[in-house]
Amino acid sequence: MSKLFFDPMKHPEWIQPQTVEWYANLAIETGGYKHPWKSEFDEPRAEIIFADKIATYINEDTRMLDVGCGRGDFTSLFAHKAKEVVGIDVIEGYIASANNKKTGESVKFLVVDADKQLPFPDSFFDVVYTKKGPWLFHEGSQEGRRVIKSGGIVLGLYHCGTDGGLRNLFPGLYNPFPENYLDEVKVKFERQLSESGLEEAELVIFEEVEYLSRPEDVLHKKCFGQSEALKKMVWRECLNDVEEIFRQNATPRGLKVVNYHALMVGRAK
Ligand SMILES: C[S@@+](CC[C@H](N)C(=O)[O-])C[C@H]1O[C@@H](n2cnc3c(N)ncnc32)[C@H](O)[C@@H]1O
Repeated sequence: MSKLFFDPMKHPEWIQPQTVEWYANLAIETGGYKHPWKSEFDEPRAEIIFADKIATYINEDTRMLDVGCGRGDFTSLFAHKAKEVVGIDVIEGYIASANNKKTGESVKFLVVDADKQLPFPDSFFDVVYTKKGPWLFHEGSQEGRRVIKSGGIVLGLYHCGTDGGLRNLFPGLYNPFPENYLDEVKVKFERQLSESGLEEAELVIFEEVEYLSRPEDVLHKKCFGQSEALKKMVWRECLNDVEEIFRQNATPRGLKVVNYHALMVGRAK
């Protein structure tokens, strides 16, 4: 049986990912939502699949909203393809960084908490999307429905976990997916879409192949957004064994892993 690794998620300093505390820590450490690990991908990458899907719904008259835009790199892809693109994020550091890099008047970045009232008029946007940020169309929430035009398009891309062997190679550090995990992911997003009350709803779960370049990238991926003190502990406890397993299993491009993504699309009533 494989060695059981130190599990950083059981340590009291573990910060639950995707919480405001975790985003704030990332903003301090990396100046934004930026992956610290080195890797390469098989094409097409998930974000390119998502960008291409969004692009099918826009033209020079489109007003778009990017919810939870982070440092705004993805938002800016649409700068010269739409009339107006607005990126909102609750973390001031991300918006400051997005504004520093901003090119052109058609893109705006604003500090906005998407859980509160949005500073936009009714029926303002033709397209509202989020790439791994807050979903504005949960049952009972009104703001997404208020700011999108009737017939407007809503899209969401969410990362649903990584495996492709990673979880068997490093047990403890990465815990195995529960049985039927991907079926349950599908059910969860189907429910989210149906509760959103969108028409022509469409869900696709797809795979993205990534190659982690170095043994420490196995640890960086796990410890994304954690404190320096916790990372030091993980490196001390795990790196030697991770190096050996990495050497035995890596391809010439790196250690192959698979990222799962859910892509949702629907039309507002
Ligand atoms: C996983 S990151 C994705 C960032 C960016 N969309 C990307 O794909 O690189 C999620 C983003 O949602 C933002 N976020 C989380 N809760 C939010 C809220 N209530 N209002 C606005 N933004 C929020 C976070 O600050 C973070 O930048």
